[in-house]
Amino acid sequence: MLKNQVAVITGASSGIGKAIALELANQSVKLCLIGRHLNKLDEVASIARKTSPQVCTYQLDITQDEDIGYLKTYIEKDFGEVDILIHSAGIISFGEIQTTPVALLDEQYRTNVRAPYLLTQTLLPSLIKRQGQIVFINSITIHTIKACFGQYTATKQALKAIADSLRAEVNSDGVRVISIYPGSTAGPMQASIRETEGREYNPARLLQPEDVANTIIGALQLPRTAEVTDINIRPFLKT
Ligand SMILES: NC(=O)c1ccc[n+]([C@@H]2O[C@H](COP(=O)([O-])OP(=O)(O)OC[C@H]3O[C@@H](n4cnc5c(N)ncnc54)[C@H](OP(=O)(O)O)[C@@H]3O)[C@@H](O)[C@H]2O)c1
Repeated sequence: MLKNQVAVITGASSGIGKAIALELANQSVKLCLIGRHLNKLDEVASIARKTSPQVCTYQLDITQDEDIGYLKTYIEKDFGEVDILIHSAGIISFGEIQTTPVALLDEQYRTNVRAPYLLTQTLLPSLIKRQGQIVFINSITIHTIKACFGQYTATKQALKAIADSLRAEVNSDGVRVISIYPGSTAGPMQASIRETEGREYNPARLLQPEDVANTIIGALQLPRTAEVTDINIRPFLKT
């Protein structure tokens, strides 16, 4: 069902975005891989090309509006229309509100909220034309707010608001919008969270990026009689 569709994936160079890219490649989906580090994107692309009919890498910073503009031009030239948009790029900072600089909130807002908003807006005409699907990688933290997670959680709650509003706006055009809320998932982001918290990082006991990716692929493949809107997924093993 997804074969030969075109997917744009932010955060494709690492963690959850990388796993989604590789699982979509296994479904013979054409891939536009986005990240700031070309060497890491190229590593993902070289694996994906074994099963995907077309893979292009785009080295850009999604917080820069001109980069989003270039991306639209390149995607139109390289692929034409877009069927699937996956927002996986994200950053996290911690700290008590009393002491944590507002600049860190601004940085997370630009990456976690503003960039997915602008990229969605930019590609939406194409996604509507293709009756496509949009996936937002959110976080379980929006349900279980902890001390020192205020800034990050605020950005993820804003992301949910955007996804929910978007769904209500584009459902009638045949576009499906999915938010997924993973718990602790093995990878560089979780390793840095555990280090900051002074907790042990034991990746084998956490959700695997492939678990998240396979769950999303299942939702994307559902027939058009169904729509998954929100998915909670957490590690089965409790630490
Ligand atoms: N890991 C977890 O436990 C967990 C749990 C719940 C939700 N999440 C969410 O899941 C998503 C993916 O997390 P992850 O664990 O896969 O993180 P990760 O391994 O740190 O990957 C983050 C990705 O975002 C990209 N990125 C960050 N800023 C960017 C920018 N300005 N422009 C372009 N690309 C940018 C990075 O690429 P470059 O460095 O190459 O730019 C990288 O590919 C995030 O939205 C995160 O909030 C993660």
